[in-house]
Amino acid sequence: MFECYARTMRCHVEPVWGWDPEFQRQGFARGLSLGSTKVVEVNGEFGGFVWLQKSPESTMLRLICLDPRYQRSGIGSRLLMALVARVRRLRLKVFKTNPAVALYGRLGFVPVAEDDHMVEMVHVGAAAGTAGRPKPHHAPTWED
Ligand SMILES: CC(C)(COP(=O)(O)OP(=O)(O)OC[C@H]1O[C@@H](n2cnc3c(N)ncnc32)[C@H](O)[C@@H]1OP(=O)(O)O)[C@@H](O)C(=O)NCCC(=O)NCCS
Repeated sequence: MFECYARTMRCHVEPVWGWDPEFQRQGFARGLSLGSTKVVEVNGEFGGFVWLQKSPESTMLRLICLDPRYQRSGIGSRLLMALVARVRRLRLKVFKTNPAVALYGRLGFVPVAEDDHMVEMVHVGAAAGTAGRPKPHHAPTWED
């Protein structure tokens, strides 16, 4: 999972905070232990992961990372829509520079706070969702 995180998030993290591999590895392991992680399988292979942290009021999506092979084919949208249907008040924080911001907006997340680098978004309900977008070629599944 760390390799997938590094492959997909380093380009966002490094320009802001730098990238010390050992610091990142330790922080990643510590963070995961505070929440729950779901592996996303695509066609029986590791396709990525979702890391959630629940509180009584809401669920924080700490990370969603898909292997680059499986990005931009609708899998992330479908996972996110499945998640918002399962949990209360899904929140997330995303780098302002991350193109995923547009995706979240399309799926019904709205910005509620921001700092210099990141924006916090909360899912407030219906938006364009996945309507009219092609179904993914690969079928993602959750592994609890
Ligand atoms: C963000 C992520 C989970 C979205 O899942 P996905 O399956 O790729 O997303 P979908 O195919 O459902 O939707 C694609 C849309 O997301 C946005 N998007 C996601 N990654 C993008 C990228 N690298 N470049 C441009 N747009 C991107 C665009 O709006 C895109 O729509 P478009 O293809 O019509 O331009 C996935 O791209 C990923 O793992 N990215 C790297 C890790 C990351 O940034 N995670 C989010 C941290 S909060």
